[in-house]
Amino acid sequence: MKVLVIGSGGREHALVWKLAQSKLADKIFAAPGNAGISQQAECVDIKSDDIPALLDFARRQKIGLTVVGPESSLASGIVDEFQKHNLPIFGPVKKGAELEASKVFSKNLMKKYGIPTAAFLVFDNLDKAKKHLKERKMPCVVKADGLAAGKGVFVCQAVQEAEQAIDSIMKQKVFADAGKNVIIEDCLVGEEASIILFADSQEALLLASSQDHKRIDDFDRGANTGGMGAYSPAPLVTEELNQQVLRTIIYPTLTGLAAEGIIYKGILYVGIMVTAQGPKVLEFNVRFGDPETQAILPRLKSDLAETMLAVINGNLSDYKKRGGLDWDKRSCVCVVCASGGYPGAYEKGKEISGLEQAGKMADVVVFHSGTKSGNQDSKYITSAGRVLAVTGLGRDIKEAIEKTYQAVGKIKFQGMHYRKDIARKALS
Ligand code: AMP
Ligand code: GLY
Repeated sequence: MKVLVIGSGGREHALVWKLAQSKLADKIFAAPGNAGISQQAECVDIKSDDIPALLDFARRQKIGLTVVGPESSLASGIVDEFQKHNLPIFGPVKKGAELEASKVFSKNLMKKYGIPTAAFLVFDNLDKAKKHLKERKMPCVVKADGLAAGKGVFVCQAVQEAEQAIDSIMKQKVFADAGKNVIIEDCLVGEEASIILFADSQEALLLASSQDHKRIDDFDRGANTGGMGAYSPAPLVTEELNQQVLRTIIYPTLTGLAAEGIIYKGILYVGIMVTAQGPKVLEFNVRFGDPETQAILPRLKSDLAETMLAVINGNLSDYKKRGGLDWDKRSCVCVVCASGGYPGAYEKGKEISGLEQAGKMADVVVFHSGTKSGNQDSKYITSAGRVLAVTGLGRDIKEAIEKTYQAVGKIKFQGMHYRKDIARKALS
C-alpha cells in the first residue's frame, strides 16, 4: 500500500517515521514534507492546503492511506473530498473539524450535551461584549472563535485587560474573520492535561499520555508557542482520570456529534483542566499534537497504519478486542530546538551541525520540524521557527531527559534556543 502524509512539521516527520515501519506500507509520500522527512519518504511539492492537487496526486498514485497532519486542511474539508472519490483518508470530515475550527461550535455542542466546560457567553458585537465585562467577575478568559494558531486565547485578570483582548480581536481584527465572534468564559483553576485518542464515531482508543510545554522559556515563562517540548507518559494522567474523561467527556462528545449527524473519525485531542469539580474541557483539537506526537509515537509498538485503517473502516471496537495498542514501557522526552526570536520574528537559513552524531545515539531520533536541504557544505539549514524535535527514550523519565539533552548538546545552529527544563515536572 502507498501512504501519503500531509504536512511539513515535526509531527508529520514522526508520523512518516512510524508509518515507514508498518508492514502494510510499501512506499511513503509526504506533501510537502521537509528535508528530514525526505530520509523516509518521497516529498512531493504540493502545499498542505492545495486540496485539488492533493486529490489529483492521491488518485493518480492510488494512495491506500492518506494521513492529514494540520488542522487547516481538515477544516477546509480535505476528508470530505477524498471520501467522495473513495480514497481512504485519516481525519475528521469538515463538520467534525469545526470542533477545533470554531470555539463557538464546540462550546455550544458541550452545552447541549452536558459536557463539562467553563460557563460562557458568545458575542458578535464589540460594545455588548464590553458591557458584559463590567457586569461579571474577574478573572475571565476571552477567546476568538476561529483558528488563530494558538494565539486567540487571553486569560484576563482585570476588566481593562479583557477590553484590550476584545479590541484586538474585534476592532484591530488581528485574527481577521476568526475574530468575528468572541467567547467570554469563566477562568478555570487546576492542573492542565491533554488526552489524545483515536475515535471512530462510536469507539475511543486512548494514546499514551503526554504533556506539552507551551511557553518559550524555562519555568513556563515568556510567550506562548506551538509547543517547546513534551514527555510521555505524564504522571498527572492516571488511569482513574482517563476513565473519568472517557465517561464524562469523550463518549458524550462522540454521541453528541453523531446526534448532530457528524460521523467523527480520526484523532481527538482534548485539552482539559483538572478542577476541584473534576475534569473540564478547555479546547478540542482534531489532529495529533505537535510536539506531543514526537514523544508518543517512539513508544508505540503497534502498527500505526493498521490502527488508522481500523478507524477509517469503523472497526475500532474489533481492534480493541484484538488487544488494542501495545506500548513500550520506557519514557520518552522530546526537546524542541527553535530559531532565536521564535515565536516572534526570527532568521532562517542557518546551517545545522551535529545532526549525524545525535542521530547515531541509541534510542534517539531527531525529528525535523523546519529544515531544508542546504548546499553541499551544509546538508541541512533552518527554515522555520521550530526547527528540530530531538527525542530520546530511557528506562525512566530521568534517563530519557539525560539522553535527550545529551543529543541536543551535539546539535548547533546560530541562534538556537531550547528549554532546559523539559519533563522536569514529571520528576517531582
Ligand atoms: P485553548 O487554546 O482554548 O486551549 O487555550 C489556551 C490556553 O489558555 C489553555 O491551555 C489554558 O492554559 C488557557 N485557558 C483556556 N481557557 C481557559 C479557562 N477557561 N480557564 C483557564 N485557563 C484557560
Ligand atoms: N502542542 C499543542 C498542539 O499541538 O496543539
